[in-house]
Amino acid sequence: MFVLSLTLLFFSMLLYKSLSEKLYSDLDELLQSRAKGIIDSIDTYWETERLEAIADGVKFDIFSKANNINFIKIAQRWVEERSKDPKLVNVIVQIFDANDKLIASSKDMPVIISKKNDQLKSLNQKDGYFETVTAEFKTGRQQPLRTFTVPVVEHYNVAYIVKIISQVSSIDLALQDFRMLLFIFLPITVFVTGIIGSLLSKITLSPVDKMINVIHNINAKNMKLRIGTPDTKDEIRRLADTFNDMLSRLEHSFSTQKKFIEDLTHELKTPLSILKGEIEVVLHKGRSQEEYVLLLNSNLEEINRITKIVEDLLILARFDSCVLNLDIKQINISILIQEITEIINILAKQKNIQFILSVDENVNIAGDKDKLSRLFLNIIDNAIKYTSEYGKLTVSINKEKDFAKIVITDTGIGISEEDLPYIFDRFYRADKSRIKAGFGLGLSIAKSIAEAHGGSIEAYSKLGQGSAFIISLPLIHSI
Ligand SMILES: Nc1ncnc2c1ncn2[C@@H]1O[C@H](COP(=O)(O)OP(=O)(O)O)[C@@H](O)[C@H]1O
Ligand SMILES: [Mg+2]
Repeated sequence: MFVLSLTLLFFSMLLYKSLSEKLYSDLDELLQSRAKGIIDSIDTYWETERLEAIADGVKFDIFSKANNINFIKIAQRWVEERSKDPKLVNVIVQIFDANDKLIASSKDMPVIISKKNDQLKSLNQKDGYFETVTAEFKTGRQQPLRTFTVPVVEHYNVAYIVKIISQVSSIDLALQDFRMLLFIFLPITVFVTGIIGSLLSKITLSPVDKMINVIHNINAKNMKLRIGTPDTKDEIRRLADTFNDMLSRLEHSFSTQKKFIEDLTHELKTPLSILKGEIEVVLHKGRSQEEYVLLLNSNLEEINRITKIVEDLLILARFDSCVLNLDIKQINISILIQEITEIINILAKQKNIQFILSVDENVNIAGDKDKLSRLFLNIIDNAIKYTSEYGKLTVSINKEKDFAKIVITDTGIGISEEDLPYIFDRFYRADKSRIKAGFGLGLSIAKSIAEAHGGSIEAYSKLGQGSAFIISLPLIHSI
């Protein structure tokens, strides 16, 4: 409203100024043209009279009108005759002689206070000059007048002077009306605009109010709440959509976290209750030395299991918070795989699985050797674990564009279509009954390692036929 007031005020002032200038310049033009008409008329009048007089034999000797008694008479007569002329009703015509002495006046003139119209001035301003003066009437009333004074020059001398006087009260009245109009119109406009503006902003921002109410009620327990999206296509709609998207993501990560904690509790509970059960049974009565050894060995197995979970989780947590420092070096993947072949062979031999290795030499990447070994072993371990005896495990390494591709294929039990999208999730195991098989963290860790190296893992599988895991890691020149 403040800015609008200022703008309107500025424009009103501009408008007022140009209007008043225009009105005054119009009046000046009118005065000027009237003066010209009067001079022409007087001159014609004089000329006719002179010619008539000459024709009548009267000696109308001198041509000059200056200080000419005949001219004075003619001028007075002209003024008397013309004072009723409708063109001259609104103005006062005065004629002065060359000495600035009033010869004739169309109306009684009040005293003009501003007295600047001395002869010198009339003489100097051949084209005439305008003046705004204040007239004081006999009653004491004062009134502004606009005058135009122009000398009539004949033979390089001033013959007479014509002065036209007009009231400016009509202009002043018009301007006064205009001022009044602005005075009323300006505050009303600002006021109405202010009301409409505040109403509009209330209407447009009401969805925001609703959003605020909903957002106030959202907490970890009711992440399902969503903001109502207005039926518009504006920023508020986009804001609501974006906010809802964010809520969905948060809800998803919240429920993932929740499930993670449930799974973890479950994973830890199993070995702990086994430990507890075994110890309780053994403590029930005295046992032999061998029985204690057996128990402690069994206990150790469970403790190792717990330790493994905790270690795996620690690695994952470090990947999550990006505090895991990778010891990046140039690594030849072919050599790295050959280094872990020994372990693979031992694992494969236990189940009579045929292990085929096909490597492209000199596939170099930049990476952390320990972490990459872990990545490959996790996947190869799965391949062997989920492949029955006399199956086949193939590991191939080659370059494809800017990536090293490591493809690990098995002829195992495969993964169903429903399970495939989730196998990289933490604690996810396709077959829940195989409790001892693992914790379902191997692939999550493998994925985190691949991603930390700027790579990725994809899984392809058909239930009953086997699986293929493709690991892509950026080649060294493209890092
Ligand atoms: N080569 C494979 N063949 C069949 N199933 C697999 C294979 N690799 C992974 N899986 C499935 O994906 C799940 C998750 O794997 P992983 O994270 O390594 O957990 P786990 O501890 O069970 O090995 C496994 O439980 C298994 O169901
Ligand atoms: Mg595994």
